[in-house]
Amino acid sequence: MSEKKVNLAIIGCGGMAGAHLNSYRELKEKGLDNFELLAMCDVLEDRAKSFSERANQFQEKAPSVYTSVEEMLEKEELDAADICSPHSYHHINAIPCLEAGVDVMIEKPFSVTIKAGKKIIETAMAHLTEGEFNLKMVLRRICKSFKSFSCRR
Ligand SMILES: NC(=O)c1ccc[n+]([C@@H]2O[C@H](COP(=O)([O-])OP(=O)(O)OC[C@H]3O[C@@H](n4cnc5c(N)ncnc54)[C@H](O)[C@@H]3O)[C@@H](O)[C@H]2O)c1
Repeated sequence: MSEKKVNLAIIGCGGMAGAHLNSYRELKEKGLDNFELLAMCDVLEDRAKSFSERANQFQEKAPSVYTSVEEMLEKEELDAADICSPHSYHHINAIPCLEAGVDVMIEKPFSVTIKAGKKIIETAMAHLTEGEFNLKMVLRRICKSFKSFSCRR
């Protein structure tokens, strides 16, 4: 039986995302074929298009191109999104993904404010399933450290 592939999107197709894309290519070249880049999203369509073309050089199908995260979430069956937009958009991009049940990997810094970071964590926790109990514990710890950090400031 063939393993279900992890369906990925990249949000924000700039410099750092380019490095991530090179790593995805490297993984495929090394024989790791359990993921597929399904969508590329950037407010600048040309950037998303160029990433889609680059991905199509190392996987069979070119990822779909989007300029809106919401439209992408509506149209694609994603498992996870690799968020490489500028700092100030990390929470704006991550929250709708988490609400749609799409896991996120967020470039550093995680968020621009403690409030935005907490909102991401709260949204993740609100959308966890039973099987993700350990992740919930980890997120609780992060929330606690956020609290003590904000108390110290
Ligand atoms: N460049 C680095 O060396 C580096 C290193 C570590 C972390 N990072 C982090 O990675 C993130 C991206 O940095 P970068 O250097 O790649 O920036 P960049 O400006 O090269 O790329 C950002 C991309 O996001 C797009 N974008 C802007 N708003 C968007 C939105 N609302 N939705 C979707 N796409 C949007 C832009 O059009 C652009 O293509 C930043 O948070 C940065 O701190 C960058």
